[in-house]
Amino acid sequence: MLESSPVLLFTVISLLLILLLLVLLIRNNGIAALIWNEIILEKITNFIMDQSKEQRILNFVLQNAVRGDPQSVVDTIDKYCSQKEWAMNVGDEKGLILDKILEEAKPSTSLELGTYCGYSAVRMARLLKPSARLLTIEFNPKFAAIAKQIIEFAGVQEKVKILEGPSEEIIPQLKKKHEVDTLDFVFLDHWKERYTPDTILLQECGLLRKGTVILADNIICPGAPEFINYIRNNSHFVCTNYPSHLEYMKVKDAMEKAVFLG
Ligand SMILES: C[S@@+](CC[C@H](N)C(=O)[O-])C[C@H]1O[C@@H](n2cnc3c(N)ncnc32)[C@H](O)[C@@H]1O
Repeated sequence: MLESSPVLLFTVISLLLILLLLVLLIRNNGIAALIWNEIILEKITNFIMDQSKEQRILNFVLQNAVRGDPQSVVDTIDKYCSQKEWAMNVGDEKGLILDKILEEAKPSTSLELGTYCGYSAVRMARLLKPSARLLTIEFNPKFAAIAKQIIEFAGVQEKVKILEGPSEEIIPQLKKKHEVDTLDFVFLDHWKERYTPDTILLQECGLLRKGTVILADNIICPGAPEFINYIRNNSHFVCTNYPSHLEYMKVKDAMEKAVFLG
């Protein structure tokens, strides 16, 4: 049939080529991959399953991870997100950088901006000394509710406190309402346009001390150029870049460590 219709043959080959180009674009271009995963694929799956991706991640954890074992929770989320559905956790590869920097910093009081499902909170909590605490800020109540269940399932709820609301509202409350003196470690992993204003806010609120370590995710993908420009040209910070890949993908990404000099 194809031989008898050159037009049909041409259309089929063109469609295959377009499909191939799309696959190549999604595999190698971070923004295309994020649009494909977060907007197209996720919305279709949510519609078909009448359930959010975050609920599916939670269900997979409840069914497959070991209760009270944070490492098992981290591994189970990585398995789901690398094999079934992409999600915006810091992930296994950049997670190793986060582990290393957190272990070097040995923080007593840590702050995370952007909890999502609680993956990085559980990941960090499993390395914290017994007396240490992590405050994690999330403004999406649905994500905060999922994270609460994942954190409790992992058994790290004594160390991790979720603060629900926008970072710009909660940061100024940290000293009085949440009894924070200064922070030892800050993980920036919320929307990228908030990295700079929230770093400035942390300084204005007196929450940074000499030696506070700030670690920022997604420096390349989706990218935080304004923050990089701000932090690398600031005499109050010493920066180190850690090249890596976007979570669960081959797309280039990096983390930036900035140590506050006072
Ligand atoms: C990349 S995800 C965090 C992933 C998480 N740190 C992990 O690795 O498991 C970013 C999260 O930040 C939250 N977020 C974005 N801007 C925020 C803000 N200004 N205040 C509080 N939460 C925010 C989003 O709702 C989202 O859940």
